Parts: sequence; structure tokens; C-alpha cells
Amino acid sequence: MGSKRQFRIWRGDENGGDLQDYTIEVNEGEVVLDVIHRLQATDAPDLACRWNCKAGKCGSCSMEINGKPRLGCMTRMSTFEENETVTVTPLRTFPVIRDLVTDVSFNYEKARETPAFAPPEDLAPGDYRMQQVDVERSQEFRKCIECFLCQTVCHVIRDHEENKQAFSGPRYFIRAAELDMHPLDTKTDRKEYAQAEQGLGFCNITKCCTEVCPEHIKITDNGIIPMKERVVDRKYDPLVWLGSKIFRRGQNEQVRAGAQPQVGVHHGLHSHAGGSHDPGAEAQAQRGLNWNREVPHPTAPAVDERGRLPLSELTFDRPAAPSPFGDDVTFPLPTEHLNYAHPEQDEKKKH
Ligand code: SF4
Ligand code: SF4
Ligand code: FES
Repeated sequence: MGSKRQFRIWRGDENGGDLQDYTIEVNEGEVVLDVIHRLQATDAPDLACRWNCKAGKCGSCSMEINGKPRLGCMTRMSTFEENETVTVTPLRTFPVIRDLVTDVSFNYEKARETPAFAPPEDLAPGDYRMQQVDVERSQEFRKCIECFLCQTVCHVIRDHEENKQAFSGPRYFIRAAELDMHPLDTKTDRKEYAQAEQGLGFCNITKCCTEVCPEHIKITDNGIIPMKERVVDRKYDPLVWLGSKIFRRGQNEQVRAGAQPQVGVHHGLHSHAGGSHDPGAEAQAQRGLNWNREVPHPTAPAVDERGRLPLSELTFDRPAAPSPFGDDVTFPLPTEHLNYAHPEQDEKKKH
């Protein structure tokens, strides 16, 4: 037996839009995507929504439900209270095409920029052999369904269009991590590339990406943090340092007598890696949720005064910057907090 439930759905296109209210029947066992389909069949035949599998496997029904990036086909209506209004909005980080459909080309551009798997030249396809243990290590990352929920939640680009060029995002950090641990990949600089070209240093381990991943991939703990650690290991490892000196000596470069490797922990306050140094913005970010507020603005990769990644970033016991949702926020969010608007639409309203 169905019951009537309240929905608020963002309707609009690249020129702007608004949340519209609907009262719609919901039956036992249904998910949010079922309700959207019923709306298309009844009150809103022109409501645009992308989906394919309805089984949590194609990654196309990504949307933000009560403020949290989720798959519409995997969000059961039973997770909401009977009298709760369910608010559905498009992914915030990507431009709206129409209603709940966004243009996610950014992700495909970043995929193209990521150097491909590079097997040994003398190995023909079909002759690849690897230990089961190595298969299992990277299997976690292969589960990715490219829903881009991790990309939309990441504060480095969520409200900061200007960071998109320099930042590939968590989905591509785990691709780099997967290739980095692949025994047949001949490119040995995956982590250095991630740090230098993919913007790994902008990530300050807020773990929001892990929190929203529908495949439960431990993006930060198993992908990002180990890569950050290995970048640091290479920079600070005395043997690597010694090796680089010997190598340079072989090239007749002057070796400074008595020089010691600078193996140092960056003491003092934790660097808000990639965070804003503007106290006003920090205070605002701490004040609970507001979609239109300023979140800490990443300005530079996390490096110390010598241009090195501070170890404190890795040893800090809590996220380095406030979560974009605010540290005190739990889901689902109260409806009055959902003052949703796309960043570019905010801009247009000003003009
Ligand atoms: S941990 Fe936070 S900053 Fe880093 S990639 Fe994930 S969401 Fe972005
Ligand atoms: S890592 Fe998880 S959240 Fe990110 S695109 Fe893949 S499945 Fe989606
Ligand atoms: S429709 Fe395929 S993941 Fe939801």
C-alpha cells in the first residue's frame, strides 16, 4: 500500500532554475529513482534524469539527495522518515545540462590526461602473468563504477572552478594508485606524476570522497594516503638522498662535504594543506552548512618552506580542513539548509 510523500526537485538548465515541490505516491521497497520515474510518468513528463542499470553498476544516476551525493537507484525511500521532504538536486561540481543531468566531461578529460597502463614492450597481450596477491591489491580500485560522486563532493573543485585544471580528483588518484601497485606497469613515476601533474598535494585528506563512494572503496586510506606517504618517503629517504648524491657525483657535480640528509618532521601547527589562510573564510566554513558559503580555498600544494611535503600532513589525527559540509553536520540535512544553486548560476544572478 503506497503513501503520499513530499519531494523537492531542482528543475532548470544552464540559465538557472529552482526547486519545485511535488507530492507523489511511494510504494514499499522503492528507491528514489523509482519515484523520479513515476514523476516522469505523471506530473513531470519533461523531468530530465540520467540512468541506465538501476542496479548500482553503471554509475549514471548520480544526484544529490538531501544534500548528500548518492546513486538514485541505491537510495531506498525507507531511509527517510514518512513526513520528511526528499530534496533532489544535480551534482554541484559539474555544469547542469537540464534538471538532474550534468555535463561530466571534466572527468573524461582527466581520464585522458592520466597516462595509460604501460606493459613491458617484449610482453604480448595474453602473456601477462601476475601473482594473485597483486591482483587482489588493485581489485578494490577496479570496482570503481565512475559515478563521480567522489569528484562532486571534493571541496577542492566543488566550489572552485579555477582548481579544475590543476586537480584530477579522487577517482584519478585511485587510478594512479592502482597502476602504481601494478607489477607489470613499466612507468615507475606514478606517484610523482600524481603529485606534480594531478594535484595530489591539493588533497588535504578530508575523506569526504571515501564517505560517498557507493562501492565502498577506501579512496583515502588505501589510495591517496599511501601515495602521499610514498612521495614523502622518496623525498626524505636517506638512501634515496645518498643515491642521488652519488649519481650526481658521477656526473661530476660538486658534492658538498658533510652535507646531511634533511629528514625532518615539519613541527608546529598542522599546515592547512590547500586550505584558506583567510580567518573569515575559515570561521564561515565552521558555521554549519550553507551550499553557497565559501569553503577553504586551496591555494597551493602542501609544501613546507623548502618546497617539500610536510610529514605533519600524514601524521595529523583528524582532517586538515573543515569538511565542506561542516564538521557538525549529519545526514539527512534539514530541508531549510538546502538552498541549492549551481555556482555558475549564482554568478549569472549577480549580473
Ligand atoms: S580526501 Fe577530501 S580533499 Fe582529498 S580527494 Fe578526497 S574529498 Fe578531495
Ligand atoms: S571511486 Fe567510488 S565514488 Fe569515485 S567514481 Fe569510483 S565508484 Fe564513484
Ligand atoms: S542506474 Fe546505474 S547506477 Fe543507478
